[in-house]
This record gives sequence, structure tokens and C-alpha cells, in this order.
Amino acid sequence: MSRPRILSGIQPTGIPHLGNYFGMMRPAIEMQASGDAYYFIADLHALTTVRDAAVLRRNVQAVAVDFLACGLDPSQCTFFRQSDVPEVTELTWILSTLTPMGLLERCHSFKDKIARGLSASHGLFSYPVLMAADILIYDSHLVPVGQDQKQHIEVTRDIAVKFNETYGGNFLRLPEPVIRENVATLPGLDGRKMSKSYNNTIEPFAEEKILRKRIMSITTDSTPLEEPKPIEGSTILALYRAVAPPADVAEMERQFCEGGTGYGEFKQRLFEAVVKFFRPMRERRAELIADREGVEAILKKGAAQARETARGVLMRVRDAVGL
Ligand code: TYM
Repeated sequence: MSRPRILSGIQPTGIPHLGNYFGMMRPAIEMQASGDAYYFIADLHALTTVRDAAVLRRNVQAVAVDFLACGLDPSQCTFFRQSDVPEVTELTWILSTLTPMGLLERCHSFKDKIARGLSASHGLFSYPVLMAADILIYDSHLVPVGQDQKQHIEVTRDIAVKFNETYGGNFLRLPEPVIRENVATLPGLDGRKMSKSYNNTIEPFAEEKILRKRIMSITTDSTPLEEPKPIEGSTILALYRAVAPPADVAEMERQFCEGGTGYGEFKQRLFEAVVKFFRPMRERRAELIADREGVEAILKKGAAQARETARGVLMRVRDAVGL
């Protein structure tokens, strides 16, 4: 594989958080030069939960700005909005005609969303079929994602195999997930997976006062200040490992084991490390916010490129099924 096709997406259900950044955005940015990369904002997926047009549009813009500020380079990759490539919805339908119900019934993400009280719409249930179409329509080899998306990539592979077997040919390419083990599931404020739906997120570009308040609210155990603190399962350390240099992490781990330092002090250090890590991106972000049209032009140009590729694959699929 000389230049692999790389693809990933992010839903505009809110402002990107540290989990999105370390689980997907950073790996995607690091991979953009090593292949033919396609990254998109999954606004069709977000329709399953966002029911306010103005909020959806604002979130799309915010995700675009943050991704670009973090280092996504539109001269090296194709960056676009999912709904600007309508071919993907046609492929979704074709794939859905041979996706077994049982395959979707087994998906954790659907079960989790229902358990959290979301109403069981057809869109929520068939969410993984749209995601499979996203991946398959660009002949993707590699899909950088966090751990929570792994099952969806497996479903994508199952659907592709089913399609290829049904129509007798290698029409659809089987993708591989790329998951960074150390940040596969970054914890949020309460120690559960950082997620917009748990309201436990840390948004790196929040105003510093708010960012500090969020970090100070990380749940900790009641070990007294002078006692040694457990390293295993510490949210503060898990986040610090993502943003701080290894020597600083080693120092914090040592102080955890030694005792004598309180959680408040560790949180303050984490806050400072987050601010430092994202400072250059924060500056770039301010410029992008002021250039709305420039950001829109990048998405439009990306969509035109993405459509070219999507049309080619869709034609192959239409031909295979007899349309
Ligand atoms: P979404 O919008 O929930 O999240 C975007 C990316 O961020 C990762 N992520 C995390 N990684 C580590 N720790 C966390 N706490 C954390 N929280 C989120 C997610 O794993 C994801 O990679 N269904 C996708 C969007 C999508 C997509 C696609 C992705 C639509 N079509 C095709 C890849 C390929 C989603 O909801 O991601």
C-alpha cells in the first residue's frame, strides 16, 4: 500500500473535546501527509440527536474551525461536510437492503443511546449503515478513531463482505481501524469515557476561567493530602499523560506515590499543561473564527473533491446491483 486512503469523521453535536482531539483529531492530523486523507464533519449523523437548525450550523462551523486550528491542512487532505456528498445517502440505502437486522441490534452505541433515554428512531438504529457508506464510498484503507467506534468499523467490514459475496466480486474495500492504545478512551471529569452525552467533557478552547473550573471539578478520591495517592485509574494522570512532556508526567507520578501533595495542586498543573499544549492552536483559531468565508470555501472545495471519488465508487456499486 504506497499511499493508503485514510478516512475519518466527527459529529457536530457540540464543540470538540479532549477525547475527540486525542482519540481522533490528532491521529488524523498526523496521518494526513502519509496518505490520501479524507476527513469530514458528520452532520447527517448529528441529525439523529441535534434538532435545532441554528445549533447544527453553528456546531459544523465550530468543528471546522477547531479541526483546522489544530493543524488540519486542506492542502494535504480533503476536508468536507458529509451532507455535501449526497452520493453517500444512496449508497446507504443500497447497503441497508442487505444489512442483517441482527448486526445492528448488537451495536453497543445504539443500546447505550436508548439506555440514556434517546427515542429509538430508525435513523439511530441504522446509524452504522450510514457510517459504513461513509467509509466504503471512499475506498478507505485506514480509519483513525477512538475505541468507541471500533464496533462500527467491524460492522462496516461485515457489510462490505456481505455485499461482495452477494454480488460476486471485490466491489468494496475492507477498512482497518487505527486506534491509539494510550488514548483509545480518554476519561472525562467523572472518570467515565469523556463524552458530550455524559456532560463530563473538557473543551480545550474554552475560555481559560471556564477551562480551569472544569479541570478543578475532576472527581477524585478522599485520600488525605499527606498520604500516597493511587496512580491506577487516576483521571488527572490519564489526562496529564496526554498533554504533558514525559519528564513532567514522571514527576507527577512520583509525587502521587510519595504523598504530601493534594489533588488541587495536581489539577492546577494539569490546567496549566492543557493551556500550554493548546496555546498555539488557540491563536490560530482566533484567526479562523474571523474568516468564516475562508472556512466555508475550504469545506466546499473539499466536497467537490470528495464527490469525484464517491461518484466513482457509487457507479461501481450501481453497476454491480443492476441500477
Ligand atoms: P464522534 O463525533 O462521537 O467522535 C469523534 C471521534 O472522537 C473519538 N472520541 C474519543 N476518543 C478517545 N476518548 C474519548 N473519550 C473519545 N470520545 C470520542 C471517537 O472515537 C471518534 O473517532 N460515528 C462517529 C462519526 C463518524 C465516523 C464516520 C467516524 C461518522 N462516520 C466514518 C469514522 C468513519 C462518531 O460519532 O464520532
